[in-house]
Amino acid sequence: MKKQRLISALTIAAVVAAGGLAVAQQASNVKSLRGSQVDEYVPLEDNYRQEEKRFVRNYRQQPPLVPHQIDSYQIDLSANQCLACHDWSNAGERGAPTLSMTHYLDRDGNQLDSVAGTRWFCNQCHVPQAEAPALVDNTFNPSN
Ligand code: HEC
Ligand code: HEC
Repeated sequence: MKKQRLISALTIAAVVAAGGLAVAQQASNVKSLRGSQVDEYVPLEDNYRQEEKRFVRNYRQQPPLVPHQIDSYQIDLSANQCLACHDWSNAGERGAPTLSMTHYLDRDGNQLDSVAGTRWFCNQCHVPQAEAPALVDNTFNPSN
């Protein structure tokens, strides 16, 4: 009885060992999807980050580029978080540049106290900038 148990235990051990060997052999044939070994250094493609600086305008009427992140600032029909810093009533406290007068003129030229509807969706005109290669080539030259 004891002898039989010992034999079956040995058999199990042998099967496990053989299995391990098979797995090890298979592993050496595995091809990784990225085509390199696990311990090989694979440099990532460049990630073009937003530039956080004031930009020179390329022509006098250009809406200035946004020098800070904007992804967390909501703009919809009822809310505009940009105004929390840029509206004339908050800008001083927030140390942000105040909206210029053109943002407070309605389409009939009336001067308003709150930002004009035509200027509500700020990122129609103001966008952030990344130092990334142009997606479409162009021959634009700044005016001087
Ligand atoms: C938390 C306050 C804050 C909020 C919210 C904010 N800004 Fe600003 N913004 C600033 C400050 C401060 C500066 C000046 C940064 C500097 O001088 O580097 C600035 C600069 C700018 C400028 C550059 C102006 C110039 O003359 O160069 C633009 C354009 C601008 N913001 C647009 C926006 C837009 C659009 C939104 C909403 C999507 C927004 N900002 C939300 C604080 C804010
Ligand atoms: C229809 C296009 C347009 C929209 C919409 C618009 N702007 Fe402007 N913005 C401009 C232009 C053009 C200028 C530069 C000339 C000027 O001041 O009118 C400017 C200037 C600015 C300046 C710099 C002001 C200064 O005196 O240096 C800030 C800050 C600014 N905009 C923020 C905003 C914010 C915040 C919003 C949304 C509430 C907004 N703009 C909506 C076109 C736009």
